[in-house]
Amino acid sequence: MSSSIQIQDVTVAYPQARSDRRLIALWKVSLDIQEGEFITVVGPSGCGKTTLLNCIAGLVSPVEGQVLVDGERVTGPGPDRAVVFQDYALLPWRTVWDNVRFALEGGAGRTITDRDERIGATIRLVGLAGFERAYPRELSGGMRQRVGLARALVADPRVLLMDEPFAAVDAMTREVMQGELERIVAETGKTALLITHSIDEAVQLGDRVIVATTRPGRIKAILPIDLRRPRWEYDVKAEPAYIEARERIWELLQDEAAEHARGTSG
Ligand SMILES: Nc1ncnc2c1ncn2[C@@H]1O[C@H](COP(=O)(O)OP(=O)(O)OP(=O)(O)O)[C@@H](O)[C@H]1O
Ligand SMILES: [Mg+2]
Repeated sequence: MSSSIQIQDVTVAYPQARSDRRLIALWKVSLDIQEGEFITVVGPSGCGKTTLLNCIAGLVSPVEGQVLVDGERVTGPGPDRAVVFQDYALLPWRTVWDNVRFALEGGAGRTITDRDERIGATIRLVGLAGFERAYPRELSGGMRQRVGLARALVADPRVLLMDEPFAAVDAMTREVMQGELERIVAETGKTALLITHSIDEAVQLGDRVIVATTRPGRIKAILPIDLRRPRWEYDVKAEPAYIEARERIWELLQDEAAEHARGTSG
């Protein structure tokens, strides 16, 4: 099951320490995300990407505008939306199994057998079968992030929100994880939003790539990525459409950096 998301004129302002002024992190951002769509977001550091993800997750409230998920206004976190964090955020004293189970605790309406089947299936889905009893410290970075992914998926959310999920893993593992993520999102049919600093990752995974401006974050461009899936099954990086999208995003980010430099120097 997946959801549609409408981001409508969202402005976010944070109170600032030692000042009465507020810091505008996002300025009138609007975006419609279709059911089952995979959106990737790139933009300069500090432009408000995490803030945008947090608005959808219900962890940050806009001062103006709103986010709708399946037509319902987001007012807080909910089981329909799961977040995968950059630093895994695992509980070190719990095994893989118990870390994944943790995400189901408090969830009503499941028998223990149902629950255990669900946990087992999710651990297999992310490729961690055999590591159920391992502790996070016994796992590689890539494996830890698989646990993070399993924990997000186990309650079967409609929306998967990912904030630079592979930033802390090495380049080889990252490529493998990108392929796995594409497979998992396709298999489960979820709506996905992924923030990344990697232009390649954005093009590799996104149905559309959102390029954000420097703070306050606005949408600078939206690029549809017209490349067939599954993209991990062929040499997608050699496709003209891939190379073009990559170059275009690079130009947009360069252009944004130049504009920002002009804006701050003069
Ligand atoms: N809780 C907060 N309180 C005050 N200011 C915040 C808070 N969270 C973020 N900010 C500020 O809002 C702006 C946007 O932050 P955000 O984390 O959304 O950016 P980002 O695009 O995710 O950056 P990065 O690419 O470095 O992760 C930054 O200037 C940041 O300092
Ligand atoms: Mg961020």
